Amino acid sequence: MNSIIKVLLLYTTHEKQTLKIMQRIKAQLEGKCDCDLIELKSDSKIDLSQYQAVLLGCSIRYGFYSKVMKKFIDENYQQLNKIKSGFFGVNVVARKPNKNTPETNLYTKKFLAKIAWKPTITAVFAGALYYPKYNWFDRNMIRFIMWLGKGDTDVTKEIIEYTNWDQVNEFAQQFYIKTCTLP
Ligand SMILES: Cc1cc2nc3c(=O)[nH]c(=O)nc-3n(C[C@H](O)[C@H](O)[C@H](O)COP(=O)(O)O)c2cc1C
Repeated sequence: MNSIIKVLLLYTTHEKQTLKIMQRIKAQLEGKCDCDLIELKSDSKIDLSQYQAVLLGCSIRYGFYSKVMKKFIDENYQQLNKIKSGFFGVNVVARKPNKNTPETNLYTKKFLAKIAWKPTITAVFAGALYYPKYNWFDRNMIRFIMWLGKGDTDVTKEIIEYTNWDQVNEFAQQFYIKTCTLP
């Protein structure tokens, strides 16, 4: 029973932080699973029947996780519920220690409550800010929101990364154990 299982790592992203997290998870699974890393677009055709395990990841923008990901889940929840699966969300509120679990991170808690898919394992990771990349409106909005939350407001910093890579590594191990090794 040593055949290597096929895993789908499916994500949506704006500034590629969710992709960076998926790439880390893929690297952690190297040699253990055969992973396809795919960006979900509104017109993507995904054949879930090819996979024994699936991990979905997406980020928050102005209070909501990706509509494209939500639609994919709503359309495929029955099939998703038949395979081992995981979900992780990315947002900057999760940089706070009391808001970094799926139960304590309100965006994630609400999202998981709204969908009919019940992932085997869930997580939430702190993302990153790329102020110089944002347009004027987004830069000022995010700066204001960060100022309200006593966070980083230096818009000249190219990247302000809050992602805890040890937490991502640990999640990758747990995802492997719970979805790829258990019956
Ligand atoms: C326009 C914009 C709106 C955002 N809105 C929120 C928000 O409402 N709550 C939050 O915690 N993080 C928010 N973020 C932070 C993102 O979730 C964070 O930057 C994440 O790393 C983005 O991941 P991505 O590059 O994969 O899209 C926002 C970021 C941007 C640029």
